[in-house]
Amino acid sequence: MKQLIVVSNRVPSPDKDSGSQGGLAVGVMNALSRTRGLWMGWNGQLVDDAEQHAPESYENEGVQFATFPLTEQEHELFYVGYSNEVLWPLFHYRSDMVEYSREKDAGYQYVNERFARQVAGQIPEDGDATIWVHDYQLLSTGHYLRTMNVENPIGFFLHIPVPPWEVFRILPHHERMIEHLCAYDTIGFQTATDLRHFLENVERSGVAIVEGNTVIYDHRRINTGVFPISIDVDTAREMAEKGEQSSRSKRLKDSLQGGPLIIGVDRLDYSKGLYKRFQAFEQLLENTHTRYGNVTYLQIAPLSRTGVERYASLRRELERVAGHVNGRFSTYDWMPLRYLNTGYDRETLMGFMRQSRVGLVTPLRDGMNLVAKEYVAAQDPEDPGVLLLSNMAGAAEELDGAMLCNPFDVEEMADMLDAALSMSLEERKERWQRLHRVISTNDIHRWGESFVTALDQSAAARHADGQ
Ligand code: F6P
Repeated sequence: MKQLIVVSNRVPSPDKDSGSQGGLAVGVMNALSRTRGLWMGWNGQLVDDAEQHAPESYENEGVQFATFPLTEQEHELFYVGYSNEVLWPLFHYRSDMVEYSREKDAGYQYVNERFARQVAGQIPEDGDATIWVHDYQLLSTGHYLRTMNVENPIGFFLHIPVPPWEVFRILPHHERMIEHLCAYDTIGFQTATDLRHFLENVERSGVAIVEGNTVIYDHRRINTGVFPISIDVDTAREMAEKGEQSSRSKRLKDSLQGGPLIIGVDRLDYSKGLYKRFQAFEQLLENTHTRYGNVTYLQIAPLSRTGVERYASLRRELERVAGHVNGRFSTYDWMPLRYLNTGYDRETLMGFMRQSRVGLVTPLRDGMNLVAKEYVAAQDPEDPGVLLLSNMAGAAEELDGAMLCNPFDVEEMADMLDAALSMSLEERKERWQRLHRVISTNDIHRWGESFVTALDQSAAARHADGQ
């Protein structure tokens, strides 16, 4: 049986309460649970002599893992530097935050090459393996695998958005990035917009030719497509039902004193729009006296990428605005905004989502946003909450039934929050049914299967062509 080797920088943490791993870990774990898969990636540790460490193998929830450490310097240049101070802001359209240096660039290439070496060492002896590389930290890994004469099917999926040409071309050596991507057989994106931007970037860079959804580079044909990541809907619903019965959920419910709950769950990241969200909540309290003393907004925001300065400064800003809102509106027995940096396991989070009246998911830019889909799956069909979703999230291109808002428009968000809190049961049910139909049709298993099928077909066509 063919082996599927998944490669990503981050692998799921065995610590279930960490809560800051993002959608990739959740999505890929679900997709791999039904396959004979091996997942490779960084083990989260920093050591002096990373080259001397053979990958450590273990099994977690039925999936095989092979993980390895990085050095401090690799982590600084590859992860903090190039991945999160160059690519992350640029791909989220924040060119003002890009801090490029040649040293970071070289560190990124070096670590991508090291990932490739580790992967090449795990290909089974019979050679029968499909390799699936994930996300912006590893854009060049496929290229280095090809230089090591690995001719297996190699696919790449980008979990984050693709910026348009005028933003993309800011990246020094963007032509090289496109060349490296041309090593893959299949490249997948979250949305049709991302795919369109990518094909335009390829064309405008002059590196390769675009024919429909195919990129032609040096006689190689690279197949591209849209594969919106999703969740395991049944598992999420079961978790929510169980989570709602937990003592944490009961304590949360008691503490609300019968008032409605608005919930947000995000890594603490500037792309998530938390600052404007807090302002919108403040505006809601200012506008509507009926909400005063009654509504509670719970924002769970586990710390993320603490080594990157932008994240540290965002944390300070959020603490300030949260303190301001509570100082301004709290009474001796009611605190409107509960802002916490603690992570919780998914069962607890889903239980909290199930008892909320509004799910607030308002990123300024997001590849997909699986919290939006989890929110839908977690709801009680007889009394569902309302999803208030940013029109800048990839999920907005799919989730018919959500209330869509502009996350830059604080006043609009405040009005929409008010409307969501007042929505009739009939409308809430009708919207939820539409949303649920979408996530049940395209669930996580379909995502994984359709990508791997497209990848194997594309590699088979390459071999048939004698490439
Ligand atoms: O889903 C996007 C993503 O950037 C993943 O690639 C990443 O693993 C996750 O968010 C969390 O970020 P980090 O690995 O930097 O903690």
